[in-house]
Amino acid sequence: MKLKITVLSGDGIGIEVTREAIKVLKTAGQIYGYEFEFTDALIGGAAIRASGMPLPEETLAVCFDSDAVLLGAVGAPEFDYLLPENRPEIGLLKLRQNLGGYANLRPAKAYPALANISPLRPEVLGATDLLIVRELLGGLYFGQPRGFIEADGIKSAFNTMRYSVPEIERVAIIAFQAAQGRSQKLASVDKANVLESSRLWRETVSRLAKDFPDVALEHHYVDACAMHLVTNPTRFDVILTENLFGDILSDEAAVLTGSLGMLGSATIGGKVDLYEPVHGSAPDIAGKNMANPLGAIASAAMLLRYTAKAEEAAAAVETAINQVLENGFRTPDILGQQKIGQLISTEQMGSSVEKHLMENSTANLSYQTV
Ligand code: IPM
Ligand code: MG
Repeated sequence: MKLKITVLSGDGIGIEVTREAIKVLKTAGQIYGYEFEFTDALIGGAAIRASGMPLPEETLAVCFDSDAVLLGAVGAPEFDYLLPENRPEIGLLKLRQNLGGYANLRPAKAYPALANISPLRPEVLGATDLLIVRELLGGLYFGQPRGFIEADGIKSAFNTMRYSVPEIERVAIIAFQAAQGRSQKLASVDKANVLESSRLWRETVSRLAKDFPDVALEHHYVDACAMHLVTNPTRFDVILTENLFGDILSDEAAVLTGSLGMLGSATIGGKVDLYEPVHGSAPDIAGKNMANPLGAIASAAMLLRYTAKAEEAAAAVETAINQVLENGFRTPDILGQQKIGQLISTEQMGSSVEKHLMENSTANLSYQTV
């Protein structure tokens, strides 16, 4: 099976971490019989520098001609002076809109080897294992009308949190299905005590629940959910929420596991699936070979799972990530104050995942031939 992957490394550490993710994908492909054809294209600050636009037409064309898009990160401080509509981040938002993926899956799992660097006490963190399903194409990010107005010398700005029933249904179905494949628990998060869009959200999700009688549905207000995430994260399994709430809660959930650098994400449901680590471009450490590539590698594992339908290969990459951590290898963000473990570079981290993948596969092969 041959898959065409568009690589949008973007800005800052996006470039270094994506390189490692590709390395791991190639190795997993060799072991499990998948062939990848990678094509690079520009997005974000890199695209603005080259063409003046954060998402050039050529980039979109390359993406549409591929099976999946693997993105690094966008954003660079040199463009901070630009208006929001011209900044690198707009490239990512337009990409999401064009590709059409409305369900952004952000798993946050506590690795036992990193329990010491979580901001939570180990007994609170426990075996936290969450999947946030974030609606990605609606709400305040895209709702119309939006803008600035000036009246009687007073400047105002406004955005609109708007959701239609079909927009809520399609993402909720993905969340219910995800819950069926995990522990049959779904928490839908809204602000239905204040917002009309949340009232519709809650009503729609409750109605859909009748089609998924095996899933236990709970509703939470977003403020309470934010609190439960730090006091009792193990009470959650799948969390379904709208765009902005999901943006905020997924950073919170991510850091419980020790570092934002660890988490990958998949955006599905559109024309072409999009895979990207949850972290940003981290300009302060860019180009220093010290960024954590495990979020990008975890995104590559999700690509194997959802686009390539290669569950065995996806699980093997995840096992290799776990082994690397168990063996004490650490990039600076996961070294922790007690500095337990061996400090390694971005590149060494990628190679180390690759090495475990290969070792595990030869171990399996020799086991099969015995
Ligand atoms: C994320 C990021 C993006 C978002 C930014 C970079 C536009 O924070 O993927 O979580 O807000 O969606
Ligand atoms: Mg975010």
